[in-house]
Amino acid sequence: MRTSRLIYIGLIIGLLVAVGFSVYFYQQVQHYDAQIETANASSDELPKYHFALIGEEMDHDYWRLVGQGAKAMEDHHNVFIEYEGPRRSNPDEQLKLLDMAIQSQVDGIIVQALNDQFEPLINQAVNNGIPVITIDTDAPDSLRSTYIGTDNYKAGQLAGQALLEDTSGEVNVGIVTGSFSNTHHQLRVEGFRSVVDQADNVEVVTIEESNITRVVAEEKAHKMLQEYPDINALYGTSALDGIGMVRAAESLNQLQDLYMATFDTLPENIALLEQGKVDVLIGQKPYEMGERSVELMLELMKGHMIQDVYHTEASVVRQNNVNAIKDQLGDLP
Ligand code: BGC
Repeated sequence: MRTSRLIYIGLIIGLLVAVGFSVYFYQQVQHYDAQIETANASSDELPKYHFALIGEEMDHDYWRLVGQGAKAMEDHHNVFIEYEGPRRSNPDEQLKLLDMAIQSQVDGIIVQALNDQFEPLINQAVNNGIPVITIDTDAPDSLRSTYIGTDNYKAGQLAGQALLEDTSGEVNVGIVTGSFSNTHHQLRVEGFRSVVDQADNVEVVTIEESNITRVVAEEKAHKMLQEYPDINALYGTSALDGIGMVRAAESLNQLQDLYMATFDTLPENIALLEQGKVDVLIGQKPYEMGERSVELMLELMKGHMIQDVYHTEASVVRQNNVNAIKDQLGDLP
């Protein structure tokens, strides 16, 4: 009796253990299948194209807009935009990112070609079968497919024309430029000069570079205002130059005597314009540049012909039309 009871209990335990193992293995198999399904689903969902977008500096409102415009295209097209750039402007780091994009064989590269050093790498990318589009700053002699951005020479001319329209008498200009070696700043200076040099009453007395920071812009504007007391107009070619110029003029108590023109309709610049501390802003379309750069790259993927250059609008913004610009900016996501 006792022996048969023990056998009975043993059988029940054996049965429970077997059921337990079966349940465990069933769950394991289910889990594994689910993993495979997830993996398959995500590989199906991988975007068809992977584009690298390389900007000048990530920690900057202007470049945030470029990035937002490009990333917005992911919602409408089968594309992943890898948006990268140095935190602060650093051409060497930007070149490294360009090199890395080539090494990782992305489908297309959209890059700001800050200076001549970008040309060989752009050509290398194209020779490796990766199409390149330049954005914001062009490298027209490279093998890039197209350029999307401001006509920087013309934008400089717009600033020069605005100065001629808004001033009279003898005008002595100090220029604060982002960088002597950056192509777009060179063009903005050349365009400006091409207009003001025609006027007998206007003279560019000095030019300094701000390294595209507000701190250096302030330092250089301060220096030039002290060295050339007859300066009565300042022209800044980069987004933060105006902020530095205003600070320098305020600290020397000269703001009311100066005509101020600078680039970009960033919120801080618009505020300075509304306060009457800056007279003119040259507005650009960074969001549109980002958006259209991706559309153009997709056209290239389809094998479609595209133009050699696409210029986005540059506009003269004064107090009397700033509200229209604010409305446009307000429409951006
Ligand atoms: C230029 C950009 C630059 C930005 C910040 C803009 O005016 O178009 O190239 O990165 O200013 O300085």
